[in-house]
Amino acid sequence: MLVTAKELLVDAMQGGYAVGAFNVENMEMVMAVLAAAEARKAPVIMQTTPGTIKYAGVDYYYANVAAAAARSSVPVVMHLDHGDSFERAMAAYRAGYTSIMIDGSKLPMEENIELTSRVVQACHPGGVSVEGELGKVGGKEDDLIGDDDNPYTNPDEAKLFVERTGVDYLAIGVGTAHGVYKGVPCVNTGLIAVIRDMVHIPLVLHGTSGVPDEQVAIAVRNGICKVNYATDLRIAFTKGVKDFISANPEAFDPKKYCRQGMTEVQKYVEQKIEVCGSAGKA
Ligand code: 13P
Repeated sequence: MLVTAKELLVDAMQGGYAVGAFNVENMEMVMAVLAAAEARKAPVIMQTTPGTIKYAGVDYYYANVAAAAARSSVPVVMHLDHGDSFERAMAAYRAGYTSIMIDGSKLPMEENIELTSRVVQACHPGGVSVEGELGKVGGKEDDLIGDDDNPYTNPDEAKLFVERTGVDYLAIGVGTAHGVYKGVPCVNTGLIAVIRDMVHIPLVLHGTSGVPDEQVAIAVRNGICKVNYATDLRIAFTKGVKDFISANPEAFDPKKYCRQGMTEVQKYVEQKIEVCGSAGKA
């Protein structure tokens, strides 16, 4: 079934685990993520960025994930990742997305509060939960290159932001970056615990592809309840397709080479579900 993320994430917060949030780019990735969640009996979040939505439209992605959810035995959330405007958030809401992120983190604090509050007020009456962001996640996020000046979320600002906006869960800057890391990232796991104790809502880790599993596990123990993976799923899918085509250069049936892409994505997602601690929680 398709559900909103709030109850899943509050359960996760109380149970000391996180729900994996996986970016899907096509029908095959939706199928692979669902297969992984079912195999591990885990609740799961599937999400699309504005860049992905530009490729096919919210209706296409919603239809794919809704079809997956309708045949699944685990709870599935359809989430807008990095919503970049009020209009985009509303387009996803109207399409049936059950969770919306509005990312005003590049705006001055007051403007971020104003934008996030508007989205919360528009989504809550329909029972749709909202993720906001405060602080910076570095690297290349969707089509945008982030700036890398002080990326850390200020805990006092986080408290104020949550109180004034009414967001259901909050993405924080703790030293991660989107895309492929040049070195080994170092998540400020202590800061996560400080923010958790001040805001008392589920926290979200972005830019998790390439973060060592041990760091993710500590981040989850300290209050992260939603863990976002995107880049590594793209890499896994493409690896499967490339491997198949190099072993079978005459192949022309997408069902054949996409199958291997799906196998790679499923393997990756199953392992990350274990890292998040959400196996068996569906
Ligand atoms: P990665 O691409 O680094 O996994 O980041 C995912 C993410 O945070 C999506 O919002």
